[in-house]
Amino acid sequence: MSTEGRSRVDLFEYQARDVFEKHGVPVLRGVVATTPAEARAAAEQLGGGTVVVKAQVKTGGRGKAGGVKLAHSPEEAQARAAEILGMDIKGHTVHRVMIAEGARIAEEYYFSVLLDRSERRYLAMASVEGGVEIEQLAVERPEALARVAVDPTVGIDAAKAAEIAAQAGFAPELADEVAAVFQKLWTVYTEEDATLVEVNPLVRTEDGAVIALDGKVTLDENAAFRHPDHADLVDRAATDPLEARAKELDLNYVKLDGEVGIIGNGAGLVMSTLDVVAYAGEAHGVKPANFLDIGGGANAQVMANGLDVILGDPQVKSVFVNVFGGITACDEVATGIVKALEILGDKENKPLVVRLDGNNVEAGRKILADAAHPLVTLVATMDDAAAKAAELAAAK
Ligand SMILES: Nc1ncnc2c1ncn2[C@@H]1O[C@H](COP(=O)(O)OP(=O)(O)O)[C@@H](O)[C@H]1O
Ligand SMILES: [Mg+2]
Repeated sequence: MSTEGRSRVDLFEYQARDVFEKHGVPVLRGVVATTPAEARAAAEQLGGGTVVVKAQVKTGGRGKAGGVKLAHSPEEAQARAAEILGMDIKGHTVHRVMIAEGARIAEEYYFSVLLDRSERRYLAMASVEGGVEIEQLAVERPEALARVAVDPTVGIDAAKAAEIAAQAGFAPELADEVAAVFQKLWTVYTEEDATLVEVNPLVRTEDGAVIALDGKVTLDENAAFRHPDHADLVDRAATDPLEARAKELDLNYVKLDGEVGIIGNGAGLVMSTLDVVAYAGEAHGVKPANFLDIGGGANAQVMANGLDVILGDPQVKSVFVNVFGGITACDEVATGIVKALEILGDKENKPLVVRLDGNNVEAGRKILADAAHPLVTLVATMDDAAAKAAELAAAK
């Protein structure tokens, strides 16, 4: 299990297109639509000529699955969108389409750059045989796929871009133009903190332009603090609603499949809390419901936010608050719990087992004892508290 709670964000094609455009990668115009009528309006907005209606789902092979269709008029775009919206592509329901300008394709190429973790560097791949699924090409004709290591301290500069183009077999008269696009795609990769940028196909059009027709971008979410704008790219509907809510509140939360909600301060403590609850729960047939680390400076609002997320999980029957007072002393944490219960009011309707230890523990326990909240049970040790929380969860 990852205690990070954050890792990667895969973008939809239309989002990748926007990011490409921002960094000067040549793309065609595209407009997102969620209904057939919107698709028609989008096609009109693009000039009323030939467009391509493209399913926006986070999986490849949309073309083969019937999720990419040509339309020669706004009426046709509406009809194609009606067919594609609601389609299931490899388990992904299509909720949006992108209406893209239609390209007159002469040739399709492939380009990607990704993080090669095992080699501790970046890897660029390119081929003049794009359009097809790259895994297939890599297996069937590995010699057609150039693989070029990229030194992280240098990146894809003009020389490296030329090397990639040459190794992939681009004709000399085309090499400069594709190399310039590779450099721009490298800019996307580094400036957006991506772990993958893939273009398949990169095309040459009949009138000689080189354009990225389909893009796949994966962002490194650990770098999200550097990119406030990336928050808008996260597909909230697709993530667990509780995890999405926790993320909004900046809480380190992972939903699990059990009945005992868990809040603690510090990832190590929360991990061992999961263990003792799993162990104590065996006798009662219950399990931990989540991982939630409220971190070092656990004030009342953070505690209230954490409880709010956990109580929003209908599976939760009891909550175990396990806090070890350090820099934030136990009395502050206890005050935080009392205030959190005030903030939540009637929302807090499940039994809470609290175990406090560490800095200023006596003062903390006194605050909770004095508050005498009917739902709160104060237990001295972690094992006893886990057993109590499991028992209460099973009794519900
Ligand atoms: N804007 C466009 N204009 C013309 N043809 C397109 C356009 N976008 C995609 N295509 C064609 O459809 C194929 C599949 O589209 P693509 O966007 O790569 O989806 P996927 O990789 O999911 O199948 C492309 O290889 C290309 O031949
Ligand atoms: Mg593609």
